[in-house]
Amino acid sequence: MGSRADRPYAVHMNSKPGQSGTGDAAGSVRVDLAERSYDVLVGPALLSRVGGLARSRCRAGAARAFIVIDDNIPAAMVERAAAALEGAGFRTSRAAVRASESGKSLETVQKLLVSFAATRHERWDPVIALGGGIVGDVTGFAAGIYRRGVPFIQCPTTLLSMVDASVGGKTGANLEVDGALKKNLVGVFHQPIGVLADLDTLGSLPDRELRAGLAECVKHAMISADFGDPGLWRWTLDHAEALLARDPARLTELVVRNVGVKARVVAGDEREETEGGGRALLNLGHTFGHAIEPMAHLSPDGDPRHAPLLHGEAVALGLVAACATAESIGSSPPGLRGEVESLLARLGLPTRVAGLPADEVTLTAIAHDKKVMSGRLRLVLPRGIGRAEVVAAPPEAAVRTGLSAIRRA
Ligand code: GLY
Repeated sequence: MGSRADRPYAVHMNSKPGQSGTGDAAGSVRVDLAERSYDVLVGPALLSRVGGLARSRCRAGAARAFIVIDDNIPAAMVERAAAALEGAGFRTSRAAVRASESGKSLETVQKLLVSFAATRHERWDPVIALGGGIVGDVTGFAAGIYRRGVPFIQCPTTLLSMVDASVGGKTGANLEVDGALKKNLVGVFHQPIGVLADLDTLGSLPDRELRAGLAECVKHAMISADFGDPGLWRWTLDHAEALLARDPARLTELVVRNVGVKARVVAGDEREETEGGGRALLNLGHTFGHAIEPMAHLSPDGDPRHAPLLHGEAVALGLVAACATAESIGSSPPGLRGEVESLLARLGLPTRVAGLPADEVTLTAIAHDKKVMSGRLRLVLPRGIGRAEVVAAPPEAAVRTGLSAIRRA
């Protein structure tokens, strides 16, 4: 691991709000990327801080702010962010984006670019993404290529985007190739200038989506020992019920510690270039997950009303499949899969899926994942609780074992 990743990372939980550099945020995490460094603030009422953040991080003279809004979020949230920006002297414009994988398209990006230009958005004016991961991704992409890059602020409103998508600067859109939707095939790395994880916004998040966000937290806990937080697995286990009950103090600590793990991964390997580890480890569960997520008829329990799977549900299933694959090649201790399944089940996440097609269909989808290199599959597999590794060309029989593990009989 590189020297930056070895340093203690800057994660703060404020027991006395208002008495640290994070102002009245309940917690904060520094994403340490030299001149592209920024803070992720976590806590209640943070949307009202977006104006001050934009003013402090944008060049003097920045006059306009463009807010890109997830079409799922309540109008009051948008008004809160707009009022904060206007209070800081910005003229605001806004556009809504459909928060669906089909809305995460180059067409949406182009519409945003045209809207920026139509409002005379200039080189140092900020763009604000207000919503879940899809909105953050397309907004960041548009901000990253408009005038070769304008400042960008993430205001995530789902647990999944707070702990994962809003942090680390991956932006992009899906591309339809020969009739199939290829997720995140185009995009740029464009780090935000700040992230405001306002926990009040989770109030309107459906329970199923909260649970889906918890799947990415389980993933982080499965690699956290190598990224400065070996106690995260135990902590998540100990607080599973409090998290499902949305206990505010536990949710705050959950977001801060998960962003801490992600920040440390990203600081060590911003552009996913480390051979055999680094940022690629965040793909744990995702190769299986990405293969099954577009299969629109799949549901956790066979009830068509629960299809399709949410991204986090597909990741949860992917984590189980990865554990079974690792067990099959003998690279993880026996019992690991049981522990992971038990935590996922306690968090209300699926460990089996109904309607999985024949293995050949899923294996073909896995082979098309963009993590395949030079025609060789690379899977991220657990080595034990808190540790994972990239395994090149795992035996097909082991991958089939992974699929069998999640197939609902
Ligand atoms: N969500 C995976 C990454 O940011 O690298």
